[in-house]
Amino acid sequence: EGVAREAGISNASIEQIDIARGILGDKLVAVQNQYSPIHLDTQDTLDYCAKVGLAFVCWSPLGGYRHPYDETKFDPFREVAAAHGVSYQQVVLAWELAKGDHMFVIPGAHRPETILDSLKADQLELTPEELAKLG
Ligand SMILES: NC(=O)c1ccc[n+]([C@@H]2O[C@H](COP(=O)([O-])OP(=O)(O)OC[C@H]3O[C@@H](n4cnc5c(N)ncnc54)[C@H](OP(=O)(O)O)[C@@H]3O)[C@@H](O)[C@H]2O)c1
Repeated sequence: EGVAREAGISNASIEQIDIARGILGDKLVAVQNQYSPIHLDTQDTLDYCAKVGLAFVCWSPLGGYRHPYDETKFDPFREVAAAHGVSYQQVVLAWELAKGDHMFVIPGAHRPETILDSLKADQLELTPEELAKLG
């Protein structure tokens, strides 16, 4: 009806992304899926978004704050963080942003400190060796 100029979808598989592309054409601009070191099974949609020119928005990019998860998955990020003197959360966000120009992250936060810390992630340059170690 011309109300929305562009649209994004969330929690979509490759098949569902293609259905949305069929309906919206180039008005579909973004896919928001869960992605983090503890939730990597959306890698296929991350790669597909790069291939077809869609933004990929990682939700719960730090693993989420409501659900318990395996903390050891963050150990390699803690090691890299120690070398840079930054929080491991900054390293996680920088690693996600390094997955491609189509990547966006939306870390949640309830405190000014965590918001301000996460904002620094786009200044953090990880070396090719560090990115290879993080996977
Ligand atoms: N599309 C969907 O279906 C869907 C589903 C779930 C969530 N989301 C979206 O995803 C976004 C984030 O999700 P989320 O909040 O569940 O998970 P998250 O971003 O993975 O984790 C948030 C937690 O990380 C902490 N944190 C953030 N930055 C930090 C930093 N620099 N240093 C230390 N701790 C840090 C926060 O701490 P403090 O609380 O202490 O600040 C909070 O406890 C939200 O905007 C949400 O709306 C979308």
